Amino acid sequence: MNKDVYILGIETSCDDTAAAVLKNNKVLSNVVSSQKIHEIFGGVVPELASREHDRLIVPVVNKAIQESKIPMKKIDGIAYTRGPGLLGSLLVGTSFAKSMALSLNIPLLEVNHMHAHILSIFIDDNPKKPNFPFIALTVSGGHTQLVLVNSPSEFIEIGSTLDDAAGEAFDKSGKLMNLEYPAGPKIDQLAKKGNPKRFKFSKPKVKGLNFSFSGLKTNFKNFINNNTIEFIAENSADICASLQNTIIEILIEKIKIAKQEYNIKDFVVCGGVSANSFLREKLNDLGKTDEITAFVPKINYSTDNAAMIAMNGFLKFKKSSYGNLSDYSISKYPVS
Ligand code: KG4
Ligand code: ZN
Repeated sequence: MNKDVYILGIETSCDDTAAAVLKNNKVLSNVVSSQKIHEIFGGVVPELASREHDRLIVPVVNKAIQESKIPMKKIDGIAYTRGPGLLGSLLVGTSFAKSMALSLNIPLLEVNHMHAHILSIFIDDNPKKPNFPFIALTVSGGHTQLVLVNSPSEFIEIGSTLDDAAGEAFDKSGKLMNLEYPAGPKIDQLAKKGNPKRFKFSKPKVKGLNFSFSGLKTNFKNFINNNTIEFIAENSADICASLQNTIIEILIEKIKIAKQEYNIKDFVVCGGVSANSFLREKLNDLGKTDEITAFVPKINYSTDNAAMIAMNGFLKFKKSSYGNLSDYSISKYPVS
């Protein structure tokens, strides 16, 4: 019988300080401290994010270890986010993980944040898992990509955004409506009571598997500027529902094109925007209309978290694919 493996995961790529302990692919603890300090600025302030990680990393890791009820000496490896992300933020997690691996004399496992989003689907309490090869749509605040995943270590980018990410389309539009940062979850909430067909916003004419959201952003900005504050406040549910519908239609259309081009039916949709309830509904419909099976991680594993980092670390540990103490943070770590 294989020995159980305990991995501590550390995530500090953006504005969430997170740590988790996994026993094989089972989550024993998953602690996320989302930095509130950025709210008043309407976006993440990199310098403040690094300082917050520095302040929070010790208590967050301690909490994850305590909640896992696993003594430190049982931890077999330390997985950390090497990139992509904000360099100052990554440095905190990277240095912390290196020191801990060094002091415990256990392997260090370097993890690409985008791979971890994709592989989070293999955490044991997700209800269903895809078969390789599958296609992943990663939709977060910084990324919108289509990735062909041949194995847990072979990722090929087949499409990406030419400008803004899907999460940015939510957040920047929400900012124009004076919604708090990050606006994605608030738009999701407000849209529940709105009519998604009431307003028409522009969709990009980008062929193939690439995305673009900058035209929609400009179109939405003009719409806000051309209407009164009262009108926007009174119709916020319909505005949010229509905006959300446009963003989701853009994503769903690309999934359909990817299915045709690659003749692959299994799609993993991950990253913060995959928490969107309307997107989840539309992905479900794809099973009925287009023979596409969509796999979406549980919400806790969709937005930034360290369980996904530990999951990827566990897969690397099993293959003895260890990192080095000389590895350094990579802010633009490519997916393939
Ligand atoms: O993956 P993530 O937590 O962090 C990054 O790596 O960027 O993604 C954050 C993004 C933000 O843009 C946020 O507005 C968006 O995910 N988001 C949502 C929802 N929950 C988070 N967007 C739409 N609907 C949601 N329910
Ligand atoms: Zn992320």
